[in-house]
Amino acid sequence: MSRSSAALAQPQLTDVTLTRDDMGFISKLVYEHAGIVIREHKEAMTRGRLARRVKALGLHSVAEYCAYLKTPQAADEIPELINAVTTNHTSFFRERHHFDHLRKDVLPRLVQERSGRRGRIRIWCSAASSGEEPYSIAAVSRDVLGNRSDVDFKILATDIDTDILAKAEAAVYSPDQFDRLPSDVKPLLKLENSSRGEARISEDLRRMIAFKRLNLIERWPMSGPFDVIFCRNVFIYFDTQTKASILDRFVTLLAPGGFLYLGHSESLPQPHPQLRLIGRTIYERLP
Ligand SMILES: C[S@@+](CC[C@H](N)C(=O)[O-])C[C@H]1O[C@@H](n2cnc3c(N)ncnc32)[C@H](O)[C@@H]1O
Repeated sequence: MSRSSAALAQPQLTDVTLTRDDMGFISKLVYEHAGIVIREHKEAMTRGRLARRVKALGLHSVAEYCAYLKTPQAADEIPELINAVTTNHTSFFRERHHFDHLRKDVLPRLVQERSGRRGRIRIWCSAASSGEEPYSIAAVSRDVLGNRSDVDFKILATDIDTDILAKAEAAVYSPDQFDRLPSDVKPLLKLENSSRGEARISEDLRRMIAFKRLNLIERWPMSGPFDVIFCRNVFIYFDTQTKASILDRFVTLLAPGGFLYLGHSESLPQPHPQLRLIGRTIYERLP
């Protein structure tokens, strides 16, 4: 290959300059469609994430991408934009105290109450990301349920990001994600060996969960009631008004005596008359 044709074969560099106007445009779009507030100090991170979409679409600059988003053909691009800007950081048994509370204080009582009549137990994991949180819920639940079939038990795991939900459903993880887990919880995940040295969550736990796309700021199709709702480390991306409105809807879907778990740095936007703080970021729905 001659030097000139080699130069032609080089991929074109992406211009990732993000003007104040374009940043304002993207922030508004993301807020309208996902409720996520992109703060000014997140500009560099946003630029990097937009660059991925610019490349995927064969465009050359963030400016071109913003212009494309203003055209009517761009409707299909909005979910991709949302997938690109979400932060999906998570891990198995993250903020362990919630799983201990569920395993020791909540599930044994629910199982005792509901068994025999094939009573229902429903848990909603509302920002499931790549699956580590719902599989941790399934792991402690299976431990409490054992093999009993006299309880109708289900976990609903939802997220706005369709790419991350596909990863969650695949349930395949790198083995080093399990290496650091405490020895009392690691066996509960019942790992199966997968190809390329990866590990897969057992089918038994996978079958306990239904994964669905759900945007917390849009209408929810479920009518509840849920015994437990996990909503951890997503409120940090929302403003007070959005959090308050989602919280009201959680309360409507929670069974009296049910529990809401928030993330470690999250709290209620204001005290809620029907929720009582009973432990570290654990709220109980009052009757
Ligand atoms: C930082 S992760 C938290 C994952 C897990 N709950 C945990 O605490 O480890 C935040 C998740 O919230 C999701 N998310 C952001 N905005 C959302 C919205 N409007 N509706 C539903 N999920 C949303 C993101 O896609 C992301 O997977």
